[in-house]
Parts: sequence; C-alpha cells; structure tokens
Amino acid sequence: MATEIPEGASLLIEQIGTLAVVPPGPIVGAQMRTVPVINDASLLVRDGRIAWFGPTSDAPLDEGAYVLSADGGCVIPGLIDPHTHIPFAGDRSGEFTRRLGGETYLSIMEGGGGINSTSRAVRSASFDELVSENLPRLERMLENGVTRVECKSGYGLRPEDELKQLEVIRALDQQQPIDLEATYLGAHAIPGEFADRVDDYLAEIADPALLTEISGRGLARFCDVFCDRGAFNVDQARLVLTRAAEAGLRPKIHADELAQIGATRLAGEVNAISADHLEQIDDGGITALREAGTVAVVLPGTSFFLGIEHCNARRLIEADLPVALATDYNPGSCMIESLPWIMNIACCQLRMVPSEVLAACTANAAAALDVHQRVGAIKVGFDADLVLLDVPSLESWFYTPGLPRVHAVIKSGQIVYRRPEHAR
Ligand code: NIG
Ligand code: FE
Repeated sequence: MATEIPEGASLLIEQIGTLAVVPPGPIVGAQMRTVPVINDASLLVRDGRIAWFGPTSDAPLDEGAYVLSADGGCVIPGLIDPHTHIPFAGDRSGEFTRRLGGETYLSIMEGGGGINSTSRAVRSASFDELVSENLPRLERMLENGVTRVECKSGYGLRPEDELKQLEVIRALDQQQPIDLEATYLGAHAIPGEFADRVDDYLAEIADPALLTEISGRGLARFCDVFCDRGAFNVDQARLVLTRAAEAGLRPKIHADELAQIGATRLAGEVNAISADHLEQIDDGGITALREAGTVAVVLPGTSFFLGIEHCNARRLIEADLPVALATDYNPGSCMIESLPWIMNIACCQLRMVPSEVLAACTANAAAALDVHQRVGAIKVGFDADLVLLDVPSLESWFYTPGLPRVHAVIKSGQIVYRRPEHAR
C-alpha cells in the first residue's frame, strides 16, 4: 500500500485535539477508568516508533518532517483485536435464522452443524480461496482502526487442514498492513469422523511432533482449547495445553461461555496468557485468573449475537483483573467484524466507560497477546501504530456509534489508510 512519507523522514502529527495517552498494559481498576489525555497535542514519529509527544507548544523542531494534521480530532493507539476465528469459509446464515426460531447454538452443534459445518467448508477450500475470502475482512478491519489481530486455526480439525489454516494466516499477514498473531486451535470441536473417539482425536491434534512443528516453524505463538459443555472437558484441555506449553506454545482458553465447568481455574493452573468469553465465570475463576496474571478477554459481540447472558465485566474490573475486549469474529457465534461496534456494546450493555473500553482494546489487548512491551500504548519507543479519529472527544466517539470516524491509520509510522475524503 502506497505511503506518502519520504524515506527516512519523520512524521509529525499536529493539531491533535485530544491525545489519549494510554499507558502500557496490563492495566487494571482505576488505571483503566482514567486514561490520561493531552489536549492541543502533537506527536512525532521516527523510524516507525513514537519519538516524542506532548503539548504542541513544546513540540521539537523537525524541519524535514512530513506533517499530518489530525484536524482537531482524537489520536489513540491502534486498536488490537485479540480473539478472532479468521480465516474461515462458508456461510451459516441458515443457522442464524434457526437460532432466531428457538434452536440453541449447542443443539445445532450437536446436530452436526456449528463448527463442523465451517470445518467442511474450510477443508474443501483451497489455500488461495481461503486467502482471497479472508483478505477483504482484514482490509475492512483496518478501516475500523485495527492494527493487530489474533487469528486462530480450528476449522481444519485434522493436522493437514489445521496447518493449511496456519499457513493461510502467515500469507494474510504478509499481504496487508495489519500484524497478525496466530493461535493453534486444533481442540475446537470433535470432528464427525471422531465422534465417540475423543482420545483418538486428541492423540492426533495434540501429538507432540505436530505441536513442535507448529511452534518450531513459527506458525503459531499460542494454543487455544474450547473447554466447555459440548466441547472439551477440563482434563482433555489440560492435556492439550500442557503438551502445547512443552512445545513452546503459550496457552489460551475459551472458558466459561456456555457452562461453568472449571475452565478458568484451568487457565490459572496452566498459566494461560488469556482466558476468553467468561460469561459464566465464578469467584474461584476470578481468583485463579488474578493469581496467574491471566488477561480476561471479554467478547460481548458473541453474547449479543447469540442472545445469551453477557459477561459481568464490571465484576472483573472491580476484582482488578486486566480486562480486554475482542470481536470473536466467526461465522457461528459472532459475525461482527467491527471492533468499534463491539466497543459500543461494551459501553451500552456491559456498562464499561469509554476510557475502560479504550484501555481494553489497546493496552490490555496487547497484554493478551504478550506484545504489551512495544504496542498498545502511547509511549516513546513504542511502535507508532496510531489511529486518527474525526471526533472532538472519546466520549463523542462512543456516543455516536455506527458513523465512520476513522480519519487515518498509521502502522509502524506509515500512513496505511486514509478515509477517502481525507486523501490528498
Ligand atoms: O468462540 N466457542 C467456540 N468457538 C467460537 C465459535 C465458533 C463457531 O461457531 O464457528 C466462539 O464462540
Ligand atoms: Fe472464539
């Protein structure tokens, strides 16, 4: 993608009405609620990193800098979506309508639909088809201000197709500006051919040789398990995640979504980087996550889309857990790819305030992917991943959902997106 900044030149963003100075994650409690801001600010980028920021009156002179005006709007760190099921194929709009008619996510899954339905589509799609079907999804996410996305396998459900999905993630990473973080999710569902033979399935997808190949080739950094009623139980999830950790893949868990079966306690036990969903979390689960320093990734788009009870995010924040938000973008339980839309659901339905939501989608989302040492915050030396918004305040962004507010997106110091009326 073309950028107008001459090679070697700095980038000076000026006329920033409000700069949200998000501190590095993980952040908790009052720190989430009170992200500091600087009004009438400027920000200087050099060599792809934040070199200086502060009040415009104090801005250093850099005569050769390329100047970009924020036109009095807000500047925030690039948004991070730490839980998606990209890449996927196929269409489950029929299931959506069946659910509206009263069938449940679980009953559709038990009838051979659900994850297994998408698995059939992913298995029969070629590598190139998977890339071309998923690239536009990422292009639209960039237009929403998202600069880093976690992507999972989990629809191959056999080694060769799980590897195909991970290779597709690698190709997608190279073909567009958003940085992708890959997660291996072989234990997403039991494929039809292994019904009643779960142990045989686990032997295949948690084979140490396969896990070592995935880790060794850098095809994934994380391993996730769907540990819930209708999927894998705690003992099965423990086996997969322990072996994965031995192979160098950091655990993540789909936990406490449909039922409380002890998945968040397991997250603490295996020192998971994140536990995701948490609609049914209990006090023991909260304690386990806090003791392990695990990030709580809340997915309110899923509860909205499925019409199930939301996670009580206020309880998690009040318990001083670092809370992140994500789309969970997938064809079954949340076909919402817009992180700003999810952020608005978090405000209106979970009663998170704008500052908390911003922290959850930047600093804490970075912590859920173990990249909080260099992204997700406004700090000198951090990657210059930034979003310019056409809003006078953060509050007004959340107050007017659905309007296209992203004016420009900067990735590692390059202008990778400008909304057309702002293009020069
Ligand atoms: O996070 N809960 C498990 N996995 C996904 C749904 C995947 C699908 O239905 O295709 C989720 O909600
Ligand atoms: Fe998910």
